[in-house]
Parts: sequence; C-alpha cells; structure tokens
Amino acid sequence: MLILGLESSCDETACAIVKDGREVLANIVSSQIKTHEKFGGVVPEVAAREHLNSINLIIKEAYKQAQITPDELDCFSATVGPGLVGCLLVGLNAAKTLSIVHNKPFLGVNHLNAHVCANFIDSNLKPPFICLLVSGGHTQIIRVKNYSEQEILAQTIDDAVGEVYDKVARLCSIPYPGGILLDKMAQEGNKNAFNFPEAKVGIDEFSFSGLKTAVLREIKKFKPDELPKKDIAASFQYKVADTLIKKTKYFADKLNCKTIVMAGGVAANSELRKRLQELKAQDYITHAPALKYCTDNAAMVASCAYFNPIKSDNPLLLEVFSRE
Ligand code: KG4
Ligand code: ZN
Repeated sequence: MLILGLESSCDETACAIVKDGREVLANIVSSQIKTHEKFGGVVPEVAAREHLNSINLIIKEAYKQAQITPDELDCFSATVGPGLVGCLLVGLNAAKTLSIVHNKPFLGVNHLNAHVCANFIDSNLKPPFICLLVSGGHTQIIRVKNYSEQEILAQTIDDAVGEVYDKVARLCSIPYPGGILLDKMAQEGNKNAFNFPEAKVGIDEFSFSGLKTAVLREIKKFKPDELPKKDIAASFQYKVADTLIKKTKYFADKLNCKTIVMAGGVAANSELRKRLQELKAQDYITHAPALKYCTDNAAMVASCAYFNPIKSDNPLLLEVFSRE
C-alpha cells in the first residue's frame, strides 16, 4: 500500500511517500528556520503563508524522488491536529483536494500518533511497547498496546520538554531553534557543574517549570559575557534526560514491558539517545527513530495513515484541531 503524507502542523512543510508504513520512497522537508530566525520563534501567521508557498513544490519533489505518478498511490493523508490551525489547514486541504482529484481515499492523522509511528520506519518494531514522546508541545509516556490502542501513563503538568529547551536556550542567548543548539553546547560542557533540582510531582506527572526557574536563577549570578553556557547546558540536559528515562523505565518495569522507544523532536537529543541506548545493557529492547524522523516530517504521517489513522466514517469531513 503506497501512501502520500503531508505535514504542516508547525514550522516544517513536508511531503513523503511511504510503502506499507515502513519503507520510505520519498521524504521531502522544507524547514522555515530561516524565516522565523529573525523573530526568535515561530510566528503562526507567517508559518501558514510559508506552508502555502511551498506545499505544491514539495509534493512535486516527492513524486520525483519516489519516481511515481499519483495514479500509483493508494491513498492521501495529512496531519489533522494538534498544531497551529492556520498551518494545519494548508496540508489538510491539499491532501483532501488531491484525494478528490485523483479519486483515492483520504485518511487523517493525529500528529502525536504520527510521532510514535516514526518508530516503524525502516524497522521491524511491533507493539506492545512503552513510548517516551517528547516534542515541542508534548511530554508523555505512552503504553502502546497495539497499532491503534494506546494509553497515556504520564504527562507534563506545565511546559513540554521541547518548550523548556527552547526557553532555556533563549535565557542563554542561544538563537532559535534553541533545542538542537543547546544539545550541541551541552556535549562540550560539564554535567556535574550545576546540581539542578528534579520536580517533586506524582508518578504520572512531569513538571519542568521549576527546572527552568532554577536555570534562570543560576544565569542571573553571572555577567552575560562570563556565563558558563556549556556547563549550564550540560547540567540542564543531564537532569532532563535523567528524569525522563527514570520515569519511563519505572512504567516499563511496572507493566513488565521490556521494549522502550522514543519519539518526537527531543528524541533527537544526544543525551537522551545515549541513556536509552544504555538500557540495552539491562536487557531492555530499545528503539528510536533516525534523527530525520524524530523532528516533524511527513514520512511518520504516511506511516501513521497506514497503521493508525483517525477513525472516521467520512475522513474528508475531518476538521483541524489545535489541542487534544
Ligand atoms: O516534534 P517536533 O519537531 O515538533 C513538535 O511537534 O513540537 O519537536 C520540536 C522540538 C523543539 O522544541 C526543539 O527545540 C526540540 O524539539 N529539539 C531538540 C533537539 N532537536 C529538536 N531538543 C533537544 N535536543 C535536540 N537535539
Ligand atoms: Zn511534532
């Protein structure tokens, strides 16, 4: 089954063509980093216009890369939500239109489920497993029982991890996109330089706002040009990864589930990937998507349309949504 997927929920316009949910024939991502850089973050209205400018070009590019024509496709799909409404509308309406024009079915996809499905790309991974989903908008531990049945075991009660990365980066005067640059800086710093606190919250909760405030408190102790950015980044990154991995492992053990995977933009983080990898020595089976399938992309959307599309009697009537 050949599915074309479109993703436009935030600041990446993406189109991919995926076979049977696992084999990527085309994966095109047009990033808006250059556009939003000067604003220090994503401006929703500007992002929506950028999606409009690039969507047709990237669809054409995907056909070219996969060397197929629309007639050979079985289905069109797009992210329906959660995300920025004006942005989502662009990809969703493009996919619906393609489905009507080419007389093929349309399937809607939930962005969070798509992140989870990124783990199926180029792999033989099968549920059940525990998934740590960490992105710019979400921090969740999910029990994936089968391809279409999931249960949220824990989630953040304030900021999402990606959001905290971006905010701490800004506090350290690291430009947008902060997460990835902070990660690079952390790799050169001393993780023991600062002992940042871990939030005391319920077992089914995460909280990162206290950590953010603790980082700010340390930053204020230094003159801007004397700020030990690398050490702050390393100590912050260590605490985040430690908190996330400990809780994920707790739920895996509680549910007697030996397979742990990660998903979402922050799953590209070097410390988190290292800590996940280390679990292998304790007899866990671990998996994380390739870096390009962690951050927003459309291959995960096409994969999700295959494994776990939004259930609907008439998917063409699905409407965008900003939050779950
Ligand atoms: O999944 P994603 O591309 O978009 C959302 O669905 O939100 O995640 C974007 C988030 C941003 O907050 C970004 O700073 C963060 O992922 N991110 C990282 C890294 N790469 C991206 N955070 C930490 N380390 C990274 N290497
Ligand atoms: Zn995302």
